[in-house]
Amino acid sequence: MSDAPHVVIGATGMLGRAVVAELRGRGIEPLTPTRAEVDLAQPDSIDALPMCEALFNCAAWTDVDGAEAHESEATVINGKAVSRLAMKCSGGLVTFGTDYVFDGRGESPYKTDAKRDPINAYGRAKAAGEQLLESSSTSWLNIRTSWLYAPWANNFVLTMRRLMHERESLKVVDDQRGRPTSVEHLARASVELWSRGETGHWHATDGGECTWYEFASEIKKLTGAPATIEPCTTDEFPRPARRPAYSVLDLSQTEAELGPMPHWKDNLADVLRRVPEGITNA
Ligand SMILES: NC(=O)c1ccc[n+]([C@@H]2O[C@H](COP(=O)([O-])OP(=O)(O)OC[C@H]3O[C@@H](n4cnc5c(N)ncnc54)[C@H](OP(=O)(O)O)[C@@H]3O)[C@@H](O)[C@H]2O)c1
Repeated sequence: MSDAPHVVIGATGMLGRAVVAELRGRGIEPLTPTRAEVDLAQPDSIDALPMCEALFNCAAWTDVDGAEAHESEATVINGKAVSRLAMKCSGGLVTFGTDYVFDGRGESPYKTDAKRDPINAYGRAKAAGEQLLESSSTSWLNIRTSWLYAPWANNFVLTMRRLMHERESLKVVDDQRGRPTSVEHLARASVELWSRGETGHWHATDGGECTWYEFASEIKKLTGAPATIEPCTTDEFPRPARRPAYSVLDLSQTEAELGPMPHWKDNLADVLRRVPEGITNA
């Protein structure tokens, strides 16, 4: 390994925080430039980065609905910036993709080489990044994932936990099926794939699959929250960006390499056990 630094971009984000912790747990102290120091919307600030041993890109345009009206800005950050980052690494870029690069109409899990047909502007921006990586001569690892949650940051689990204590009843969408993902599990799997020298497209999520309603019902069960939860349809909550009815990512390649992914109910229980009482979105 060279003396070049390991770098995590987006270290303040939900996943970035877990990736930094995972690297530290392996004795690697990464540089964690702030957005003011490395702004993915500014090519010059990427060019100013030193050459890195490895660069973990946990930053992205993550406002899925906002991307509909700001697709070109999202494409700069999720597309062009990603291939530019890849040129700054001697030992490889690790970056994160999304289930939204697929059409969401599937009936069986999307394989890593399934045809891309992005469902919305955010998905198109991420797909643009994937295409640029595929045509670059650099070494890269793109890990597609879905439905992230953590004991910190803004996410479905902490929001549901709060709402289930604030409201008497909640409606949750029951016609979108996917795979929740604990960011700590994702960080572990991703750093492990990188440390084994893997490249190309991979998928990493929790094991099992569910709808948002089933996910919420498990949160209610584990927290003993009093609210009633009712299933509803996507049409009842119109959003600017289309959401996939089915976005289960196939894990067979990753499980062949790393072993079975822990079931989402186990990861969820582990995360909820560690959220301090009274903390909602930390
Ligand atoms: N959340 C999900 O459910 C989900 C699902 C599938 C895939 N993903 C992907 O997983 C990765 C991590 O997502 P996340 O939910 O952890 O994201 P997040 O919590 O929203 O964090 C995003 C990070 O990106 C940084 N960032 C945003 N714009 C930037 C820019 N122009 N220049 C530099 N940094 C910038 C933010 O910095 P500031 O804090 O300074 O704003 C923050 O650190 C992303 O690639 C995302 O697309 C997420």
